Amino acid sequence: MARHPEPLSGKTTSPHSVAQLPVVELKSRAALPLYEQLYLGLRDQILRGWLAQGARLASTRTLADHLAVSRFTVVTALERLLAEGYLTTRAGSGTYITSTLPEQHMRPARRERAPLPRRDDAVPALSARGRTVASVWITGPRPEEPRAFQPRRAPLDAFPVRTWSTIVRRLWNRGGYKLLEYGEPAGYWPLRQAIAEHIAVTRAVRCDPQHVIVTSGSQQAFDLLFRVLLDPGDRAWIEEPGYLDVRAALMVAGAELVPVPVDGEGIDVSAGIRLAPNARVAVVSPSHQYPAGVTLSATRRMELLNWARASGAWIVEDDYDSYFRYAGRPMSALHGVDRAAPQRAQVIYVGTFSKTVFPSLRLGFCVVPDSLVDAVVNARAVADRNSPIVDQAALAEFITAGHYERHLRRLRMICQERHHAMRRHFAHSLGERVVLSPASAGTHVLGYFGGRRSDPDNGLAARVASLAAAEGLVVFPLSRYCLTPPSRDALVLGFGGLSPRRIATGAEQLAAIVRRARQQRPRAPANRR
Ligand SMILES: Cc1ncc(COP(=O)(O)O)c(C=O)c1O
Repeated sequence: MARHPEPLSGKTTSPHSVAQLPVVELKSRAALPLYEQLYLGLRDQILRGWLAQGARLASTRTLADHLAVSRFTVVTALERLLAEGYLTTRAGSGTYITSTLPEQHMRPARRERAPLPRRDDAVPALSARGRTVASVWITGPRPEEPRAFQPRRAPLDAFPVRTWSTIVRRLWNRGGYKLLEYGEPAGYWPLRQAIAEHIAVTRAVRCDPQHVIVTSGSQQAFDLLFRVLLDPGDRAWIEEPGYLDVRAALMVAGAELVPVPVDGEGIDVSAGIRLAPNARVAVVSPSHQYPAGVTLSATRRMELLNWARASGAWIVEDDYDSYFRYAGRPMSALHGVDRAAPQRAQVIYVGTFSKTVFPSLRLGFCVVPDSLVDAVVNARAVADRNSPIVDQAALAEFITAGHYERHLRRLRMICQERHHAMRRHFAHSLGERVVLSPASAGTHVLGYFGGRRSDPDNGLAARVASLAAAEGLVVFPLSRYCLTPPSRDALVLGFGGLSPRRIATGAEQLAAIVRRARQQRPRAPANRR
């Protein structure tokens, strides 16, 4: 439903102007839940300047009445905007659109973009698909310096930049003009060989280099795979909570998202079968679930493979940070458990060098069965033809000369050290107020609030995230990664990019923030009246 904007006849004493009541089109039978649609709609209007920076939002009751949705829908959407820094609260006076939007923090001022055209300007309309593409949420650029406790950052400070630049220089000197031509869309052959050998040894993924397709990060692998595997309306299991950028790729492919709960054993396969037995695809992170951090148990692995075999579904395995295991036995990839012949394999393995080399390299890959090779390679050629050859050649040499394995060993040690620092400094500064989830791998943990504070209705995680954002810290509520409210909210806390010293100061800052957030009344951000 769309309504015309009208100023809120305000019972306000605030000196700030009151934002117009927003026009947001909400569809009750859409793939996205209403609160997600509302979140996207409001964010869009803030970014376009239709909801003015600094203006006060109407109360949740007024918004719910105006948009004909429940208060829960409004509250959940506002909490997410609050957590991401688009909104802010002032004690006793309500919820405001921030004067400096997160995007403005990330971009140098002189490169700020002009505002997007207003909707009433005469611009040709987007297609339905184009509207989905324009509205999906996807991770944006990040500040160069890692912030405490931004998830998904690897210890880039440990990367051997000198070794890399020596390799690249040698390649240019030796290769010269040969590096200038178009390349194979499937990837540079020596790199495909190096990847196939490496994942056979380290992840028990058995494949021929022909099955390895190099992509621009794992994100492009997801995009290409969903393009060739899904028709609009096909159902896709996603982990709940789960990785937001995968969700975006599925939505752009027109998939109907089926959030399947994750518990201590990973994705609950029986629940998935109950919810959508005929889903076309299941996207999972079995080695180290993102963001819950659990490992898919052996029983669940078998259940998942059996279901895929019986129903003819594809399993897309996101093995994004399996190399960062510093405790316990390493588990082979799910792909390695699938014993089907290459032409019948139903697990597609997706890997990335964003964490283990560096993310701006934009190199990842997928391992697909015979039946998919041509389609995925063609999709890659249509999208952008190939990744830069010099980068692929440098990576191939980095792997085959042994630098990669050495760097991985170093990364493991660093992550372990940073993980220990997290435990030590959180115990010291936050005690029982924030309890970290156990972790034996990766670069992030969950922080649960002590007592009943992790009840998502309490809104504590969102309040902490909002206060933290105002102080330059980046923490996200677990609910941000969910399509349905989680049974227990928590903070997602990354440590991969932080020195132990920064972890110590960050823990102290966060302790003060949590204290302040606990003093705010629950639901303050949503401005309940
Ligand atoms: C869950 C998950 N999957 C995949 C990736 C890698 O994405 P890309 O290879 O596109 O950089 C990340 C990066 O942080 C991630 O967190």
